[in-house]
Amino acid sequence: MTVLKTARVRVPASTANLGPGFDTLGMALSLYAWIELKEAEQTAFHLYGDEMNGVPQDKTNLIYKVAQMVFQEAGVSVPELDISMYSDIPLTRGLGSSASAIVGALVAANTMIGSPLPASKLFDMATAIEKHPDNVGASLFGGIITAVWDGDHAKHIRIEPDANLEAIVVIPEFQLSTSKAREVLPAQVSLKDAVYNVSHASMLVAALASGRTELIAEAMRDRLHQPYRAELVPGMTEILENAHHHGALGVALSGAGPTLLALSDRRENRKAELERYLTETMSKQDIQASVLKLHPESEGVKVYTEGDTIPFVDMIKGELVK
Ligand code: HSE
Repeated sequence: MTVLKTARVRVPASTANLGPGFDTLGMALSLYAWIELKEAEQTAFHLYGDEMNGVPQDKTNLIYKVAQMVFQEAGVSVPELDISMYSDIPLTRGLGSSASAIVGALVAANTMIGSPLPASKLFDMATAIEKHPDNVGASLFGGIITAVWDGDHAKHIRIEPDANLEAIVVIPEFQLSTSKAREVLPAQVSLKDAVYNVSHASMLVAALASGRTELIAEAMRDRLHQPYRAELVPGMTEILENAHHHGALGVALSGAGPTLLALSDRRENRKAELERYLTETMSKQDIQASVLKLHPESEGVKVYTEGDTIPFVDMIKGELVK
């Protein structure tokens, strides 16, 4: 009997930049996508969940294309794939949905063929596809990552998130593509603003690594991208200036936006006030937004070793009620 190759993975969402760490810092979040790849006679797609609407179901599909890159790199041929995916990560909102698809496809494809490629190679490939290492690094390794990318190779250091750290995300109803949010950025910045960001990003990494959460509000300030992106996200400037008066440890645009990320302490007793402040500020700007209370996810992409004994959808239902 031929044993068909198969793999299942769970990938966390991510928030990039954390304010000043533009294209550098990322944090995995407790919101997930699941992907299953199976060798097949003919390529087929089974996409579940509202976030999958409009996703291509042919060989132009990102998961299919990324999986083929892994097979090519490893020198094996698996031309036809049965692809299943379920995702709770909203598309084009700044929560790393495309990074999660890329990382999930890379790791699932590599697992299917016996994991010939090391994680460092998968990180290089993910970064080359996504063009920056922050979201893909967080989804791949979990926790908080600080990364460098020289155009060929990505390197990272992972920081274990403080156990009391929570992440409240305010997700506006409208979508904002990363390309549009990068177009508004200037090609050059002043030395003063560059120094501002180097100092704040360095302080933020040190604060996160040492548990000095009282420094986060100041350290999360940014002058490289948020001021330029503010015009694309009504309510953002007000929230960046004032959320810490309502119980946030710090606040930032999540990745390229339009989602805003507020970090808070699990023991903070003003969380209801913070949530109300965030949604009311958006609604004053006529922006419908939903709030999710998440936490940093320590685990990066998870490979299921039990194979496909339980049907894909049943396995996810089981995980969602946990
Ligand atoms: N660092 C990227 C940006 C994240 O801010 O444009 C978006 O994917």
